[in-house]
Amino acid sequence: MELSWSDLAPNFRAILESCEPYLVSYPGNYGALDLEPFGVLIEPKRRYTATTLASRQLIDGLHVLDAATFGDQQMLMPRWVLFDCGEFPGIVFGFGRRARELSPRMREKFRVHSPSDDDAFVPLSMWVAIRCAEEGAWFGHNLSSANVLSETGEVLSGLATLTKVFGVKVARASRQYGATQWDSKSIGLHLRLGDMHVLSAYTPAHTHAETLSYRVDVDDAVLVRSLLPGYRASTAGGARYLEAEDVAAMRALQEDLERGERWTIVGTEARGDLPQRVRLTRG
Ligand SMILES: CC(C)(COP(=O)(O)OP(=O)(O)OC[C@H]1O[C@@H](n2cnc3c(N)ncnc32)[C@H](O)[C@@H]1OP(=O)(O)O)[C@@H](O)C(=O)NCCC(=O)NCCS
Repeated sequence: MELSWSDLAPNFRAILESCEPYLVSYPGNYGALDLEPFGVLIEPKRRYTATTLASRQLIDGLHVLDAATFGDQQMLMPRWVLFDCGEFPGIVFGFGRRARELSPRMREKFRVHSPSDDDAFVPLSMWVAIRCAEEGAWFGHNLSSANVLSETGEVLSGLATLTKVFGVKVARASRQYGATQWDSKSIGLHLRLGDMHVLSAYTPAHTHAETLSYRVDVDDAVLVRSLLPGYRASTAGGARYLEAEDVAAMRALQEDLERGERWTIVGTEARGDLPQRVRLTRG
């Protein structure tokens, strides 16, 4: 399905007009990927290979972004994890700009402040995804956006949303798996790509047991719709509510899932300073 720029919500159009898409993956993977997602070409110079020295500065930028976004969640990625799990076998996709196009404070953050760095390409967002053995299935390993560095004076509303929607398209994913925490604000963002079928509600295998894992069945029409003006999160449905600090409710849902029940996240509700409430429906 094609996406016409003129149809996009203005914030997404502004990102496409002011940023360039980039990709890190081993070139042997290119044939399986869509290097022109929704008609937007990832220029050859913005396709990076982690096995070359030329990719070093870009990869340093990915780790700055990772430290800024996941450093305080005890989920900082060692360099070898990103290499082994994303940059080589999978994809790191996102949007960025050359250093000369960034504010001085953003350049400081990414350590590209000297004039000799003017042309350095800085990744402002990333979706890291790993291909599963299951045909068409990808696991979303990391989603980050430099919007968390709002003190730099630069915010690109919708950056992570656009990154994930385009990343899923680059991967040609028909199923997207992922894991996130019940209190994560990103649940609302993931829901833009489709209903989230809950696979686990309480996950001690993860660093944080209060993690949920999920599957989204990818539908191009839903991806496109999430980028159009007037998109509204669903407010319908909800046979069960889970408050993000309620570990007993997570464990109860986990037991129901392991008994064979199926539950799908259809919405989130903010509750001021309290952890969000997540709305689920059967099926
Ligand atoms: C979570 C994170 C990726 C979000 O990045 P971001 O670039 O600020 O996200 P976006 O701008 O795309 O979306 C932010 C919000 O704007 C909304 N939005 C954006 N464009 C919109 C539009 N055109 N119409 C309506 N809403 C829009 C999004 O739905 C979202 O809503 P919410 O605030 O209710 O959640 C970022 O904060 C981050 O890196 N956090 C730390 C790491 C992390 O927790 N990652 C997720 C783990 S799975």
